[in-house]
Amino acid sequence: MIIRSAILQGSSPDLASCPVSELPEFALIGRSNVGKSSLLNMLTRVKGLARISSTPGKTRLINFFTINGNWTLVDLPGYGYAKVARKERASFSAFVSDYLLHRSNLLGTFVLIDSRLDPQPIDLEFLEWMVTSGLPFILVFTKSDKLSPKAMQKNIDAFLEKLRVISETPPHFLTSSSKVGEGRAEILHLISDAIAEQAEDSGA
Ligand code: GTP
Ligand code: MG
Repeated sequence: MIIRSAILQGSSPDLASCPVSELPEFALIGRSNVGKSSLLNMLTRVKGLARISSTPGKTRLINFFTINGNWTLVDLPGYGYAKVARKERASFSAFVSDYLLHRSNLLGTFVLIDSRLDPQPIDLEFLEWMVTSGLPFILVFTKSDKLSPKAMQKNIDAFLEKLRVISETPPHFLTSSSKVGEGRAEILHLISDAIAEQAEDSGA
């Protein structure tokens, strides 16, 4: 897929104020600082489109980006950032879960996992919630440029092993680096396939 345009359409603090849309939508979710905004910029090749920060908790709203005028990429706020006030943190998870459960045009969810880390309870808790809610997802192990292929494989294996307890179905997963562009073609391919499949199903 060639990205011809990527425009920030709006930012919403809750599901009710999300823009009404029938365009196929794809969401990026994962713990704070995992690299969601960086991945969005890498996919669109628009530097600075989504705000990136080394300070976790940067993205606090649901940000909608219209791509090629015909689909949407969504940058969701990260979960699990301890320094965000407790009250605010709870409302994050409520509106993110609201969005994931009830956004009717949501076609795919990419859950980002930091490939440098051992399996993190917060990621596993989130994925358990996804599985029990019946929400499908694709795992993206981020920041692959930061470690050796061997170390990366070890962390991925450990994560998938933990996930087996939560879900019988092995997850679809891929690796990415926003620094060198790894994973870009694969993610865009998955998105265009999903869009084509939906168009077929609806007889378009
Ligand atoms: P929140 O908005 O706080 O939830 O964070 P986020 O998930 O959007 O993370 P963000 O894209 O802002 O990236 C966090 C930090 O990780 C930044 O310093 C990025 O430069 C860095 N980073 C993100 N992806 C990569 C990557 O693939 N490789 C490397 N080396 N650094 C990355
Ligand atoms: Mg962000």
